[in-house]
Amino acid sequence: MTSTKTPVSVIGLGRLGAALAEAFLANGHPTTVWNRSPGKTEDLAAKGATVAGSLTKAIEASPLVLTVLAHHGAVRELLDPVVGSLSGRTLLNISSSTPEDIRKLATWAQGHGADYLDGAVMAVPQAIGSADAQVLYSGSTAAFDSYGEQLGVLGAARYVGEDPGVAELYSYALLSAGYGTLFGFLHGTAMLDSAGVRPTEFLALAVPWLNGMVAFLSEIARETETGDYSTGESSLDINLFALENIVAASRTAGVDPAFHLPTVDAVRKRIAAGNGDESASSVFEVMRTRG
Ligand SMILES: NC(=O)c1ccc[n+]([C@@H]2O[C@H](COP(=O)([O-])OP(=O)(O)OC[C@H]3O[C@@H](n4cnc5c(N)ncnc54)[C@H](OP(=O)(O)O)[C@@H]3O)[C@@H](O)[C@H]2O)c1
Repeated sequence: MTSTKTPVSVIGLGRLGAALAEAFLANGHPTTVWNRSPGKTEDLAAKGATVAGSLTKAIEASPLVLTVLAHHGAVRELLDPVVGSLSGRTLLNISSSTPEDIRKLATWAQGHGADYLDGAVMAVPQAIGSADAQVLYSGSTAAFDSYGEQLGVLGAARYVGEDPGVAELYSYALLSAGYGTLFGFLHGTAMLDSAGVRPTEFLALAVPWLNGMVAFLSEIARETETGDYSTGESSLDINLFALENIVAASRTAGVDPAFHLPTVDAVRKRIAAGNGDESASSVFEVMRTRG
């Protein structure tokens, strides 16, 4: 019996590429694999993958070709000499880069007759194929219409727009929000460490506190979307007072306050422009200033 699943080629079998190839194999996709260095194809071959004898053969094996390399520069470097074989296929690039580099990569691929889709994986390799994995896609709508449903085997597939760079932009925006929380937690842990408080003791208070903060996000989103900062419960003036106290308490504890200083500067700038009474989220108007 022939498979009705789209044949896929996975180029780049590092941690993530191998996990993606495995998920395709587990779901019955004819899967061809290729990696620059030897020694990364045996496990996948044992699970049913076809190991391509050359990069060109890997590309020619499937209408959907995934590149899962360290960054976009590696994709260009690798595919440039064989780019003719991409014509008429869809390049689904998973390799991370800046949104601008991704846009250039898309233009390059389209210029060589390929359809381009970008995939930003919001999961660790171990989670690929599970309900916890999410993959954001941007670029060719035709390509997502053709393959989006089948790409659900990798993780929940969400198309975020035609601009090929926007999936990466989303991924960095999500990471930005997450890193703010994770590194802020570490900063708070360091402050309490100076008083002999163990991280797990802090955790017990931090988790419910942070859950409360998450609930506050919808109000922040509404305020920043409408530009109406007049109804917030917590003013910029009050929050500057708290931020300055965090900085002072950090210094007293011997902890570097650098994590918070850019926020303090942005809040001061907004207050200096006469907006101290506004809701704290109005600092967004300083952050969004481009250039
Ligand atoms: N791992 C994660 O948790 C995760 C999550 C989301 C997104 N990502 C993104 O996914 C991409 C791959 O991540 P990974 O964790 O799989 O990385 P990795 O384990 O370090 O694997 C990197 C892969 O890129 C290949 N490569 C690097 N430079 C190359 C070049 N110039 N020419 C040909 N092949 C080249 C490597 O080939 P060799 O084996 O020959 O060195 C290897 O197959 C990255 O852009 C990463 O940011 C990763």
